[in-house]
Amino acid sequence: MGKDVIIACDFNSKEETLSFLGRFGERRPFVKIGMELYYAEGPVIVRALKERGHKVFLDLKLHDIPNTVKKAMKVLSDMDIDMCNVHAAGTIDMMKAAIEGLTKEDGSRPLLIAVTQLTSTTQERMESDIMINEPMKKVVAHYADNARAAGLDGVVCSPLESPEVHETCGEGFLTVTPGVRFADDDKGDQARVTTPAKAKELGSDYIVVGRSITKAADPLAAYERCMAEFTD
Ligand code: C5P
Repeated sequence: MGKDVIIACDFNSKEETLSFLGRFGERRPFVKIGMELYYAEGPVIVRALKERGHKVFLDLKLHDIPNTVKKAMKVLSDMDIDMCNVHAAGTIDMMKAAIEGLTKEDGSRPLLIAVTQLTSTTQERMESDIMINEPMKKVVAHYADNARAAGLDGVVCSPLESPEVHETCGEGFLTVTPGVRFADDDKGDQARVTTPAKAKELGSDYIVVGRSITKAADPLAAYERCMAEFTD
């Protein structure tokens, strides 16, 4: 599994997304479809991007009772996606149910990863709002270990936590890391952020980059800069 940059296509229509991706010429970056775009367009957007030759990470962050998640995953498994996710907070049983639902009759399935703690969550907020009082890195490593126990392929975490996750779950366990900014960028609402170069140094397998590419004056140049910093 090679290291790659995934562009978070946080747009609200197919037109806007395709017009944005039109600026990449022949390049076909790995793209992430999140809730905003998926709720606006549905499966049509997945098909459109797959037809154009993109790999697709469908970032719907499922979190419900195991039976509901299993059935929802069964629906997603009929789409030709490459990666999807659930919240690890839904428990090991929920994650096992997700794999069951996602696995096709021939035994194949897209990569399934679990969100640990959102990269917008600070230690203080985690303690005050969700009453988790352990250090962030320990919480993330524990959630990752649950995901590994359930049979998932990896987790979503901050690049800052990639070393702990790999230490706990092994080097082959994927860390997909949002919260990436160039040194000269605004953090926005993200709290636990690093640069692409730092994410590489910390061992992230994939970086998910949204606004630093989508809001750049030259998105292709920003993407190339991410690829150069992260993969070279
Ligand atoms: O614009 P920005 O680079 O902050 O976008 C990050 C993307 O990664 C968003 O689409 C956000 O939903 C997603 N994400 C995240 N933190 C997680 C999981 C997903 O920021 N833990």
